[in-house]
Amino acid sequence: MIDFSFQNPTRIHFGRNAMDKLPLELERYSKRVLLVYGGGSIKRNGVYDDVMNKLKQAQAQVWELAGVQPNPRLSLVREGIAICRKEAIGLVLAVGGGSAIDTAKAIVNGACYDGDVWELYEGKGNNETALPLGVVLTIPAAGSEMSRSSVITREEDLCKRGRNAYTNFPTFSILNPEYTFTLPPYQTACGIVDIMAHMMERYFTMVENVELTDRLIEGALVTVVNNAPIVMAKPDDYDARAEITWAGALAHNTLLDTGRIGDWASHKLEHELSALYDIAHGAGLAIMFPAWMKYVLPRGGAKKLAQFAIRVLGVPESLGSTEAVAAEGICRLEAFYHSLGLATTLTEVGIDESRIPEMAARAVGMAGGRLGGFVPLSPEMAEEVYRLAL
Ligand code: NZQ
Ligand code: ZN
Repeated sequence: MIDFSFQNPTRIHFGRNAMDKLPLELERYSKRVLLVYGGGSIKRNGVYDDVMNKLKQAQAQVWELAGVQPNPRLSLVREGIAICRKEAIGLVLAVGGGSAIDTAKAIVNGACYDGDVWELYEGKGNNETALPLGVVLTIPAAGSEMSRSSVITREEDLCKRGRNAYTNFPTFSILNPEYTFTLPPYQTACGIVDIMAHMMERYFTMVENVELTDRLIEGALVTVVNNAPIVMAKPDDYDARAEITWAGALAHNTLLDTGRIGDWASHKLEHELSALYDIAHGAGLAIMFPAWMKYVLPRGGAKKLAQFAIRVLGVPESLGSTEAVAAEGICRLEAFYHSLGLATTLTEVGIDESRIPEMAARAVGMAGGRLGGFVPLSPEMAEEVYRLAL
């Protein structure tokens, strides 16, 4: 285990009555609230009304920034920052998933930064403080409700960049699993894949002697695998939704990072896909993660992949060699993604090889020349991973 510092400051309110805590949070922070949300699901499923009732109860003044798109765009962030400055907003409340939350994170940071907000994403600037940020989660997936990441796309050149910063942690997050009942099967599936990917990125580490975090991740992964078929078959199963909702927050809240170095190549390779082709992040990961596993298996990855296969996906150790066990684990993971209704190849989603060199160069370039902590990839190696995904 390597040295680490751990702090996660996000206050979680979880459960059927979690929204009752919102007025108290407004008392704590501010009643000048900017509400940030997406394309309208919250208006159709009643979450918007729940939020507005609580805001009214607290006598808050509310401004609205609607229309956040999946793979959220920089221009809306700039609009939000302008509203915060003009109206002296004291709390930004994101209602939705990773896209609404990441937009809100960019706004609360950008509002406290003198330069252009994109500089923060390029690593060319920094802010010491941010406005308070509240979250009402409607899709367990990105884990942004408890993470220090925010991912934004600049429209001009379709550049999708993540920023990790302490000031990105939400101040509080309201997680009511009932709010996820209306998720369409596709979004539920994409969320499950993303949650698992956040755990798997951390699981595949070259750091030795990390049994506690290995087993925490394995337990959380098994929980997601067990509950996934239940929510796919019965979207309003509270108990299964609750397991997946809490797993989604824990997957990415940095606890599972402690004492180890994760990989993150699959995520960075996927970000290029969702930037250029606008596919859902989870759908892209269902394609890139198995391809990455196939690439690293013969390059030092067999032992850890076999451990994953045995402990998470129930592959019998007696099956054969370490490599055979590892390969069977990858097959089972792909079969699991298919069972969720997702594709596991680029061809199935209509993506060809034409932009592979460009995507590989940009993903590895943004990582500083080598991508990934488990098996560091050069641009040429990253191209091979994309080709394995075809
Ligand atoms: O826009 P609306 O109408 O609200 O519809 C959304 C959207 O179309 C819909 N939806 C959400 N909750 C719903 C619902 N539909 C019905 N009922 C509900 N309860 O679902 C669609 C997807 O929403 P989005 O917020 O885009 O999903 P997700 O949470 O997967 O976020 C994806 C974004 O997060 C980034 C991804 O790259 C992507 O841009 N990520 C953010 C991370 C972070 N900040 O820590 C880490 C991740 O690895 C990821 O990169
Ligand atoms: Zn992700």
